[in-house]
Amino acid sequence: MKIAITGKGGVGKTTLSGLLSRLYASEGRTVLAVDADPDANLASALGISPEDASRALPLAEQADLIEERTGARPGTPGGMFRINPKVDDIPEAYSIQHEGVRLLVVGKSKEAASGCYCPENVLLRRLVSHLILTRDEVVILDMEAGIEHLTRGTAGSVDAFIVVVEPGQRSMQTARQIESLAHGLGVKEVFVVGNKLKRDTDRDFIRNHLEGMTFLGFMSYTEEVVQADIEAASPFDESPAAVEEAKKIKGALDQLLKQ
Ligand SMILES: Nc1ncnc2c1ncn2[C@@H]1O[C@H](COP(=O)(O)OP(=O)(O)O)[C@@H](O)[C@H]1O
Ligand SMILES: [Mg+2]
Repeated sequence: MKIAITGKGGVGKTTLSGLLSRLYASEGRTVLAVDADPDANLASALGISPEDASRALPLAEQADLIEERTGARPGTPGGMFRINPKVDDIPEAYSIQHEGVRLLVVGKSKEAASGCYCPENVLLRRLVSHLILTRDEVVILDMEAGIEHLTRGTAGSVDAFIVVVEPGQRSMQTARQIESLAHGLGVKEVFVVGNKLKRDTDRDFIRNHLEGMTFLGFMSYTEEVVQADIEAASPFDESPAAVEEAKKIKGALDQLLKQ
């Protein structure tokens, strides 16, 4: 199963990625969680200590690795580089493991974010293809809205994009943009999760604005989740209520992808 979790900044992509990764791992599935947000913080949402997290080196920032694999150093314009760099050993070499989840961190790259044809992007995109096409495990990509192009060419093999939204117009607009972009990329399914629900009217607000889209479920605004983030801990370990809601979302996802 390969899923990409996307949406506007701050809606809860990383929170949901952490919860789903830990849930699949708790079932005994092999899980690879990919932190593809340049502002990487999936490690803490998985319950990984800052000390351990520092061992997951951000790939986009490994100039030596990029040069070794592509033949060109990042930031040297106009150069020639290999378009099919070797990547299959990267997940094992650069990831760290926690509670059955393997974490890989993409890291910051202005070039990668722009979608340019440059060595770092070629390496990252090929790596993402490898993860999506070849790896036989649950792969969960925690993606910032706007870098969906990382899946260009392989998006058709992603089982689903999950768009996380919160009650508010801006995240609705982002969800619609992602929906059309995903279809343009050939993503098979686009599902919605409504997060941070506080009032009775929030669910209808989201449903009405995203009519026609398929909902996996909703998560309430939960103090324990806020507290988990304050402590840099995982909501999976700190909030039984959020885990229960995430279980329902996962159930809906499993059901929809079975068909
Ligand atoms: N259901 C929730 N209840 C309360 N706070 C939440 C909930 N989901 C996310 N948050 C908080 O919102 C903030 C942003 O969440 P995060 O998962 O980092 O969003 P994103 O990855 O989309 O930027 C964090 O402080 C997180 O703890
Ligand atoms: Mg995030």
